[in-house]
Amino acid sequence: IFYGPVVNPKSHSSFQALPRCLLAVGASGQIDWMEEGVHESAVLNVLAQHGSLDIPLVSLRHGEFILPGFVDTHTHAPQVPNIGSGQQYELLDWLKNITFPMEARFADVDFARRAYTLIVERIINFGTTTCCYYGTLHLEATKILAEIVNGYGQRAFVGKCNMDRNSPDDYVEPTVSDSINATHALISHIRALPQPRLVEPVLTPRFAISCSDPLLSALGDIARADPSLSIQTHISENRNEVRNTLELFPAATSYADVYDKHGLLGPRTILAHAIHLEEDEIALVKERSAGVSHCPTSNFNLRSGVCPVGKLIDRGIKVGLGTDVSGGFSPSILSAIQHASIASKILSMQAPTVSSTASSTYADRQLPLATLLHLATLGGAQVCGLEDRIGSFAPGKAFDALVVGVHDDAGNLGLWGADIDKELRVEPLENKEMEVWLERFFFTGDDRNIKRVYVQGRWIGGAERGLSWYR
Ligand code: GUN
Ligand code: FE
Repeated sequence: IFYGPVVNPKSHSSFQALPRCLLAVGASGQIDWMEEGVHESAVLNVLAQHGSLDIPLVSLRHGEFILPGFVDTHTHAPQVPNIGSGQQYELLDWLKNITFPMEARFADVDFARRAYTLIVERIINFGTTTCCYYGTLHLEATKILAEIVNGYGQRAFVGKCNMDRNSPDDYVEPTVSDSINATHALISHIRALPQPRLVEPVLTPRFAISCSDPLLSALGDIARADPSLSIQTHISENRNEVRNTLELFPAATSYADVYDKHGLLGPRTILAHAIHLEEDEIALVKERSAGVSHCPTSNFNLRSGVCPVGKLIDRGIKVGLGTDVSGGFSPSILSAIQHASIASKILSMQAPTVSSTASSTYADRQLPLATLLHLATLGGAQVCGLEDRIGSFAPGKAFDALVVGVHDDAGNLGLWGADIDKELRVEPLENKEMEVWLERFFFTGDDRNIKRVYVQGRWIGGAERGLSWYR
């Protein structure tokens, strides 16, 4: 049972700041009950009412609050080793010169095991409780990735890339049946991993350019046969990529239509980037209830463009955030939050009319704090089809959460400086201060502030647990 300030996302326009919340987590990691507005003097009474007096109580220290864990709806685990290199390229040259050579190294399973062990731990410590991972095209290395994720207890989707053309000779699948057989083998392997298992397989056609028509059709057949299976891919990231795609699929009316014609656009599809979609594609994505992973760090870094996320939200499309490492140079969803804010500010500066912050729409406006929070948590959960389980706190949902600390245990070292620390000591904590904390954490915080990371009620990481990364 936790007692302290809790931030709870509600919608794109609102969240709850609950300064005095009691939150009880059951043995299977689900939230049993929550009571808000419990004054310190009433805690024992409330615990007694719930018959919970014998359960250990974790009282948050001053400067700490609880936030739902971050959902990273799009990242590439095998690209973490080359993060921050080749920043001068745009997408297609970056893939050829930087990405494919690194991914090819994961043919070596020992290298894969060592790399993925460090990578997954690091991603957890950045506060990502649910992660949609691309592996490489290799079956064995991707099995290892899924095993490691499961071992750490992170909630995740893990897929091996399908790619049978327009790729280097040493990093391509030779035939459609090789690609499909390995895909089936990975799905079976992941579904047989030991319990408690929070890892699911995901179909991962890399992007249309690297998949032949028969390969996309065969993946569509797998998806049709098993509607519970998620699908992740890239769409409309870079203008040259879009042009190239339409040349390769002359019968398609649009990029989105390529996936749709092959049975790969549905409610379990996660579309990364979606920057340059035409109006009819936006309508199709909405019609199919597919979700979008907004990857602003990557979109700036590879000069891909600025995704009109507010417009997609206005159209009712599910949107979450993705780090897209190493197109994005940070595995932290905090960076994605910061860049999502900047991206929306750029669009608002370029908008033809002065946008009103009182507007009920999001297009061409800077995204408010509530929207940024939603994108990083509940929106990501919706994109993954997990909104009934994670993304916010309510009885019955899983306790996937972060304990965030805005200063050290002594209460006098503000990570943001002494001037701010003075303000942080203001007592008692009320809703307004919590908003200040949340916004400052989003814009100036980092993994040092993420003290504890919980998934399904299990404490699996965070700065307080110790970081082999820093050893
Ligand atoms: N499109 C195809 N592959 C990739 C990739 O690895 N990263 C990004 N950002 N876009 C892609
Ligand atoms: Fe990507």
